[in-house]
Amino acid sequence: MKLLNWPALLLALTKFATLATAHPSGLTKCQLPTRNPLSSCPKNTILVSSSDKRAHFTTIQSAILSLPDDHSSQTILILPGNYTEQLNVTRRGPLTLIGQTSKPTSQSSNTVTVLFSAANVQASYTDNAFTSVLTVSPTLEASLTGSGPTGYAVPNNTVYGNTDFRVYNINFRNVFSEASVGPSLAVSVSRANAGFYYSGFYSYQDTVYIGKLGNAYFKSSEIAGQTDFLYGFGTAFIQSSRLLLRNCGGGITAWKGANTTFPNKYGVYISQSTVVAANSTIAPTIIGKCFLGRPWNIQHRSVFMDTYLDATINAAGYKKWGTGDERFSNLTLMAEYKDFGPGFNETGRIVGGVTTLLSEKQVKAYDKPVDVFMDENGRQPYVGWIDEDA
Ligand SMILES: *[C@@H]1O[C@H](CO)[C@@H](O)[C@H](O)[C@H]1NC(C)=O
Ligand SMILES: *[C@@H]1O[C@H](CO)[C@@H](O)[C@H](O)[C@H]1NC(C)=O
Ligand SMILES: *[C@@H]1O[C@H](CO)[C@@H](O)[C@H](O)[C@H]1NC(C)=O
Ligand SMILES: *[C@@H]1O[C@H](CO)[C@@H](O)[C@H](O)[C@H]1NC(C)=O
Ligand SMILES: *[C@@H]1O[C@H](CO)[C@@H](O)[C@H](O)[C@H]1NC(C)=O
Ligand SMILES: *[C@@H]1O[C@H](CO)[C@@H](O)[C@H](O)[C@H]1NC(C)=O
Ligand SMILES: *[C@@H]1O[C@H](CO)[C@@H](O)[C@H](O)[C@H]1NC(C)=O
Repeated sequence: MKLLNWPALLLALTKFATLATAHPSGLTKCQLPTRNPLSSCPKNTILVSSSDKRAHFTTIQSAILSLPDDHSSQTILILPGNYTEQLNVTRRGPLTLIGQTSKPTSQSSNTVTVLFSAANVQASYTDNAFTSVLTVSPTLEASLTGSGPTGYAVPNNTVYGNTDFRVYNINFRNVFSEASVGPSLAVSVSRANAGFYYSGFYSYQDTVYIGKLGNAYFKSSEIAGQTDFLYGFGTAFIQSSRLLLRNCGGGITAWKGANTTFPNKYGVYISQSTVVAANSTIAPTIIGKCFLGRPWNIQHRSVFMDTYLDATINAAGYKKWGTGDERFSNLTLMAEYKDFGPGFNETGRIVGGVTTLLSEKQVKAYDKPVDVFMDENGRQPYVGWIDEDA
């Protein structure tokens, strides 16, 4: 056996380490407040502020609209403030939105909030898509929800949208009401890849929508809602995050699966996270009343893994859609793996008969983001848009 070439090995390791820190989460320096806010930012970073005279734009959407519709990488730095506007990202080239903060690894310290007030109440809009605070989708049609088991028929020749959209330290609030009154989206991602880090998403109903061919990764973030607040057709992976129950209604997850010519993994996967009542006032009133999810169509797929559940969660875990409209068969996967805390009742899950408790072997198919995201042909897409270092 040959001796290892230690100097070469060390050099390779050093290079690897350099590569790892040169990743876009090296944007940390750009995020920190400094005398010249752009001093440590990538060249050509656009500055947004509603009050600082040095800013290029006073609204985030005007900065987004100024970007070339090409494949160039773009960065927008947003200074502290509350921005009341809807954001709509259609471009295909990489785009990163960063909120300025002195504590990049603390979501609760975020200083940038994007607010909008809209809900689809009694068909006040023709589609839920129009209510979202942030939309990432190449076209309006690609973002539409539609109705029925297969939803809106997005034209087959629609281009794929953004291949690498990222957000760091920004909160998105749909402030229409203080209860579920209709779909009221904070974020909507369709036919695009989007990563959210240390960000927040707040609404009561349908807070997070991941539409067709949407791939969304959430890490160290907070998502609050009451009814079906993680819903869609695409794929979402939620890592090390907090899900806040502002009340109970429907379930936390509501997904529509699809029949494809390849085995797909469309669904929502929640890993190493916490599910808790939003605050101590609401907590005692919702003990045992909230459900992990319910099937928006019969092919719903969702898995909570290694996740802490507080006493808010019902003993049965998941539930069927509704009486007389169950949407439940052996095509439905409403699952858990090694969840824990007062909201996990193994006997209750078995007696309830709707929740699947996965084995260690079964969960392997779903426990890593790279294993669940796929492109429109069922292949593993480029996953370089996921910031592994954040
Ligand atoms: C944004 O609005 C909230 C609530 O009104 C307020 O507490 C906060 O100070 C505002 N943030 C900034 C940076 O102005
Ligand atoms: C987003 O922008 C596209 C392109 O301008 C437009 O067609 C679409 O209507 C917008 N989407 C929403 C939800 O406003
Ligand atoms: C889109 O593709 C599907 C599946 O291949 C096919 O059933 C459908 O007819 C196509 N729709 C259009 C408008 O071409
Ligand atoms: C607690 O959460 C509920 C539901 O979101 C909200 O209506 C209420 O204002 C919150 N109370 C406090 C004290 O924050
Ligand atoms: C997919 O196919 C199965 C079996 O034929 C059917 O029960 C189900 O409704 C189909 N799902 C959709 C979304 O079309
Ligand atoms: C699901 O149920 C259907 C109808 O009851 C049955 O034909 C099929 O074999 C079952 N599939 C699986 C994977 O158990
Ligand atoms: C767990 O669920 C079973 C069956 O529903 C129920 O009898 C039991 O009281 C539950 N345990 C706790 C601690 O809630």
